[in-house]
Amino acid sequence: MSENIVLHDYDISRSQRNKVNGHESFVLWFTGLSGSGKSTIANKVEEELFYKGITTYALDGDNIRSGINKGLGFTKEDRLENLRRIAEVAKLFVDAGVVTLAAFVSPLISDREQVKQIVGENDIIEVFVDTPLEECERRDVKGLYKKARAGEIKNFTGIDAPYEAPKNPEIHIKTKQTKVEEAVQIVINYLEETHRI
Ligand code: PPS
Repeated sequence: MSENIVLHDYDISRSQRNKVNGHESFVLWFTGLSGSGKSTIANKVEEELFYKGITTYALDGDNIRSGINKGLGFTKEDRLENLRRIAEVAKLFVDAGVVTLAAFVSPLISDREQVKQIVGENDIIEVFVDTPLEECERRDVKGLYKKARAGEIKNFTGIDAPYEAPKNPEIHIKTKQTKVEEAVQIVINYLEETHRI
């Protein structure tokens, strides 16, 4: 703890906020290669939850890397710091009573371990969006794989930077054999079966 920082306890607790909202708050953490479909699935899951009356918020590259994490790149150190800050933000959202959807490559097991430690093991559900590199590269929605292969982008996950697949994700979506709507249903079913919603 930094010097001269004294934590202040607020009278309204997370459990009171959860009670008013009528549901628990937690993080759904989507990890996978660039172009794996993380954001697409997270976006549809959020929609489904939102229309069930659940308070949600989605964190992803667009609102994070252009805002709070502007200036961070894709070195190992920058990714770790990117994910550390995102985890701290997600933790605040959970405390605020919000079901938070986070879609980040988060390539290393150690990166994701840090995220779990910050958010709290019981407050995070890991969703592995499992799309083989060949498939992501075939889609190449943003044209980044082509640039990475040409050496125009350095440290590109799957090309010249590693992606370590989760060993024991709570939810494992193999997108080659699962349509987006089915993937969304897998996530919703998991949340219902585990009484999270
Ligand atoms: S990380 O590794 O979790 O910090 O990455 P993240 O914040 O999720 O950002 C990934 C998106 O940034 C684009 N991009 C790159 N991805 C991987 N490696 C490199 N070098 C890189 N440079 C830019 C890429 O479009 C990722 O977007 P998604 O939505 O995952 O496809």
